[in-house]
Amino acid sequence: MDTSEDPGTRSRWQRWRRRLLPVVLGGVLASVGCSGTAPSVLDPAGAGASRIAGLWWVLFWISMAVFVEVVLLLVWALVFRRRPGVRVRHGQPLRFVAIAGAGVPLVILVTVYSLGLRDLAALGDGPAPGGPVIEVTGHKWWWEVRVAGVAGATANELHIPVGEKVRIRLRSADVLHSFWVPQLMSKTDLIPGEDRETWLHADRAGSYRGQCAEYCGTQHAHMTFLVVAEPRSDFDAWVTRLGSPAPQPRTDAQRRGQQAFVQGTCAGCHAIRGTSANGRVGPDLSDVGSRWSIGAGAVPNDGGHLGGWIANSQTVKPGNYMPPQPVDADRLPDLVAYLQSLT
Ligand code: CUA
Repeated sequence: MDTSEDPGTRSRWQRWRRRLLPVVLGGVLASVGCSGTAPSVLDPAGAGASRIAGLWWVLFWISMAVFVEVVLLLVWALVFRRRPGVRVRHGQPLRFVAIAGAGVPLVILVTVYSLGLRDLAALGDGPAPGGPVIEVTGHKWWWEVRVAGVAGATANELHIPVGEKVRIRLRSADVLHSFWVPQLMSKTDLIPGEDRETWLHADRAGSYRGQCAEYCGTQHAHMTFLVVAEPRSDFDAWVTRLGSPAPQPRTDAQRRGQQAFVQGTCAGCHAIRGTSANGRVGPDLSDVGSRWSIGAGAVPNDGGHLGGWIANSQTVKPGNYMPPQPVDADRLPDLVAYLQSLT
């Protein structure tokens, strides 16, 4: 009998293989590429994320053990399968199924469930009352940040003292969002009309990237923020700055920029502390010069991007709620100079 493959079948398989290979390779490369810059839950930097990472590793090693066991059983079955000339010893199949198929899974599931409950309780154990409370409001598509009892606001960046659990109160101004700092804590959904709470704890100083983790519309991906963990004295200084007026302009260009800001359309939506601009639609800009990005992670915060954003932010972050601004070409550098001086 001819056992060779039909040439048609073979070339079809080869065609499929040629198509599949780039997809598989692309997927692998994409996942490796993501892990290069994205914050990882497996690189925890605080009490909350350490709990989650610990549970992840327990699940990983249990899965690995089960996988290896299944592969060994498969190999064993292939080697000792029933065929002419090989005598099969009949063991006690019922006992084997009872132990490996019911007993062992039951132990694993009960263990994992108990560990999950333990960690769930630990994640629910928030900070003691009396500490600082940071209020975060999710907007399409940026984060408003305030400290309870302090007048000012900032955007897309919040500070916490290292080594302390800090209460975070979460609200949404419009739709569902989700507050997630992979290296510090699990996700908490922001539900319109409801007050939610979580806490953050960092055991080493640094900047940790956070991300909206619930699809909330066209610019969901550009709804990132930064958590800066710093010594208590630096944190206190940040809170003091939030409650203080923005720096006054020091050069003529900055003065002209301030005038253009408060008298133009900017002040209708944005506030700058210590000036007559007190719009509440967009982010408070009192410290915009020191922010890590423009547009909640859309572009770097430098003069060129800032000018481009003011003139027409739709080219940078399409769909955001800031319409193109009718700013005079010779006023634009002054506006940029003023905003960059707000640090
Ligand atoms: Cu906000 Cu996704």
